[in-house]
Amino acid sequence: MMILRSIAEMQAAALAWRRAGRRIGLVPTMGYLHAGHLSLVALARPDCDVVVVSIFVNPTQFGPQEDLAKYPRDFERDAACCREAGVDAIFAPEPGDMYAADFSTWVTEERLSQPLCGARRPGHFRGVVTVVAKLFNAVLPDVAVFGQKDAQQCLVLQRLVRDLNFPVTLRIGPIWREADGLAMSSRNVYLSSDERQRALAISRGVRVAEAAFAAGERSGVVLCARVHDAITAGGGRPDYVELRSRHDLRELTAASEPAVLAVAAFFGVTRLLDNSFLG
Ligand code: PAF
Repeated sequence: MMILRSIAEMQAAALAWRRAGRRIGLVPTMGYLHAGHLSLVALARPDCDVVVVSIFVNPTQFGPQEDLAKYPRDFERDAACCREAGVDAIFAPEPGDMYAADFSTWVTEERLSQPLCGARRPGHFRGVVTVVAKLFNAVLPDVAVFGQKDAQQCLVLQRLVRDLNFPVTLRIGPIWREADGLAMSSRNVYLSSDERQRALAISRGVRVAEAAFAAGERSGVVLCARVHDAITAGGGRPDYVELRSRHDLRELTAASEPAVLAVAAFFGVTRLLDNSFLG
């Protein structure tokens, strides 16, 4: 497995692969890999000759009060996971290589990135969209794979690819859950064992809403209340629970078209995401 530490090295390798007619798959990550990330590697594998995992804790998507400094990092462990998963190369650039001291060019998506996490984390999606555009320019992938847990991110990045004509096919992998239902996230390590237990209220609430939907319930108010109530009963603090169109993230009063029930909630100081595609 190759470990590429600079954009120049990465681009040289990618151009050589492309000249040799090899298809490149990219799984962008911020490291501290879990089974959910590795499932994305498997999704890239079937029609890609080379699979690259990028590991870069992107400073520009963290707000000033957020967890950039303490975001979990363990490169050796990540490299071992990638080797085991048959990854061909890790791209792990230095922050100074990705962002020059006088960096001043940003890529912004101005519609889908407004609600939900965009409203709570100003500047977050500007950082995500910019870094993903940079990763595409460094890795030159044919396919890039993202996880559904960040459902809004997936829609925003689909819009980036469409609007700026990146010749990349996006693939979305399903949410991976721990055996007890908690959606896998690198941030789960922040939870104390008590918070970890109480945080199960999120997936429990999502399951209750899914069951209500399956039984014919379509009201956004009712479906969101199911999740909201479960989270507060578990001692969590909902940041948002919203029913939105899976097409354009319009807020929906009823799940009468393909919808996403999008959830963010705090347990202690840790903010966790979950969601469910309804319909
Ligand atoms: O989903 C993530 O881990 C990050 O937002 C991404 C896409 C790797 C960009 O930094």
